[in-house]
Amino acid sequence: MKRVLSILSATAIATAAFAHPEAGKIIRISTDNTDLILKVGDNGRLYQTYLGPKLLNADDAAGLGWAQYAASDGSVSKRGWEAYSTSGNEDFFEPALGVTHADGNPTTYLYYVDSSETPAEGGVQTNIRLRDDKYPFDVTLHYVAYPKENVIKTWSEIKHQEKKPVTLSSFASAMLYFNEMSYYLTEFSSDWAKEAQMSSQQLQFGKKVIDTKLGSRAAMHTHPFFEIGLNGPVKENSGEVLMGTLGWTGNFRFTFEVDNVGNLRVIPGINPYASNYELKADEVFTTPEFIFTLSYDGSGQGSRNLHDWARKYSLKDGDGSRLTLLNNWENTAFDFDQDILAELMKEAKHLGVDMFLLDDGWFGNKYPRKDDHAGLGDWEVTHDKLPGGIAALVKSANDADVKFGIWIEPEMVNPKSELYEKHPDWVIEQPNRDTYYYRNQLVLDMSNPKVQDYVFDVVDNILTENPEVAYFKWDCNSPITNIYSPYNKDKQGQLYIDHVRGIYNVLKRIKAKYPDVPMMLCSGGGARCDYEALKYFTEFWCSDNTDPVERVYIQWGFSQFFPAKAMAAHVTSWNKNTSVKFRTDVASMCKLGFDIGLKELNADELAYCQQAIANWKHLEPAIMDGEQYRLVSPYESNHAAVEYVDKSKNMGVLFAYNLSPRYKEKLQRVKLQGLDPSKKYRVTEINLMPGTKSKFAQNNKIFSGDYLMKVGLDVFSFAHNTSMVVEISAQ
Ligand code: GLA
Repeated sequence: MKRVLSILSATAIATAAFAHPEAGKIIRISTDNTDLILKVGDNGRLYQTYLGPKLLNADDAAGLGWAQYAASDGSVSKRGWEAYSTSGNEDFFEPALGVTHADGNPTTYLYYVDSSETPAEGGVQTNIRLRDDKYPFDVTLHYVAYPKENVIKTWSEIKHQEKKPVTLSSFASAMLYFNEMSYYLTEFSSDWAKEAQMSSQQLQFGKKVIDTKLGSRAAMHTHPFFEIGLNGPVKENSGEVLMGTLGWTGNFRFTFEVDNVGNLRVIPGINPYASNYELKADEVFTTPEFIFTLSYDGSGQGSRNLHDWARKYSLKDGDGSRLTLLNNWENTAFDFDQDILAELMKEAKHLGVDMFLLDDGWFGNKYPRKDDHAGLGDWEVTHDKLPGGIAALVKSANDADVKFGIWIEPEMVNPKSELYEKHPDWVIEQPNRDTYYYRNQLVLDMSNPKVQDYVFDVVDNILTENPEVAYFKWDCNSPITNIYSPYNKDKQGQLYIDHVRGIYNVLKRIKAKYPDVPMMLCSGGGARCDYEALKYFTEFWCSDNTDPVERVYIQWGFSQFFPAKAMAAHVTSWNKNTSVKFRTDVASMCKLGFDIGLKELNADELAYCQQAIANWKHLEPAIMDGEQYRLVSPYESNHAAVEYVDKSKNMGVLFAYNLSPRYKEKLQRVKLQGLDPSKKYRVTEINLMPGTKSKFAQNNKIFSGDYLMKVGLDVFSFAHNTSMVVEISAQ
């Protein structure tokens, strides 16, 4: 091994003999707490010299070498950390970019050309141009640093002027390196009704890959985000942690590779699986955005960085308020008519929510959507079920004094539909093999501009005919099966990518024409949860699993990357063994909604829900727009506690859950966070069932913020699946 290293060193030094005119140039991408420092090597290529806590002195930043001195026996390895490593170079580990040039040459060497800084909303954008010295092949690296939120967003643009197309075999968004003693990955695996399950492992030599090949319901088995604990497993309140997420609603891949000298490289990007991409001259291949933060105080601070960033710069209507709602899916499924819906709208009003959301089952005539076997694609109201059409539903909503929202799944088609009969060539389907159906449906070919127009029209027609429709739930229940595009026959390798781009084309048009219509992103639960999609959606549906016990874990997982405002949670009849209070308290930690018939509630439960909705609205500045503190992890105890504090530190709320406490186990006193130590706060139990008295030992007492953060509150008890909600209000 030593020998190999010294050969490498020799290569690097030899290259260095001809110093590049820009050699030594430093590019510093900084937030208030973090520096990412790049440097042009003597050979003219661009290297990462540093990523970590912000350096105080510019001299120190400039003095960092481009080559990494990493051998343990005193010999020197001068292999640099190339900022965007390419196939065929002397690095030998996983590259960011794989290219076969028009003449068949599979190697690329990128040299620094120039760099610029441009203003970006909330931060500064750095653009770095790189070019191959033997081919007219260019890569531009972009980084936007958001100083206050300590978030960096990065992506790349790839283009060329070669005589024939080049083939891209991998095209990462970015590349980051770390040189620490150990690395611990936290990943978020998933399945239907089992989203955002957190597990950790140490990364040892070699690669760990997290990827998806599902195409459209792409994040069903794993989500596009991860955490890396540096020098120890990720902790909530201490330690250095990288938290990264890719804004891509299709196949993604994260590669984590520990190399021969124990350095870690992190390579996020589109999954190149079955996606050799033929890039024409002058076509620009833009990779998705990779968004990351480095926290030096654990994942809690990292999450708050991302929550702030998302609400300010990414999420649709991130600073706006959200609509509470009553949905009918869990209540009626497909079994409803106009009168039943009109009654539900009155129930919505009675409950005290803002909107009624009509779910699946309202469309299709030749093939009515009476279950999930037919109708997808035919977005016309089923006349015999809803004779007055959407107009009558909007009128009923107006009469009931609630808003009206509607479910669609416009990228999909049931073979039993008029759309499929008319346009079989609009569907992703193999021409010469048996078709495999997922939930009895197929995926429309979104790479086809005609299909894009059709999908845009689904929304546009509804809103043109019924401008009062106030909300959409946009679903996507199938992965891409039978991958084959009848539209782009010669470019099958691009379908996974062009399909997602087609979806964005449509979403862009919708946002441009209807900028103020809120939309929920749904994918058979939470299989779409990325920050590119969320530019067009105000929130996403975390899971069809609304069992409150499971939801504590699911929401804990998603909250690592998303603010509560982006996460929809509904009170339903899942796990009826738990109280309505417990179910409502869990849903109140996110964007609150209901999906339950009021007939299922007794008078006290109904009164409880009405009060809980009013409390939630009162606490919106803390829950939706404040800071979140995950205080007690359900993964580490038999309890859970989450606190929200508004930005002025005047109002907060503590949600405490007793999941499965053991007999006489020691009950943890919960220390709050994020309060003003010098302020006095009254702590009051809220969300009490009518007729019950608070058992909260410190109820209604006043304490200093200092006391609450150092001594804490006794909010846990022994009864399984119970909850306590405490309002914290500055005096
Ligand atoms: C998906 C969604 C559900 C519901 C159904 C309707 O499963 O996650 O919330 O909308 O589709 O078919």
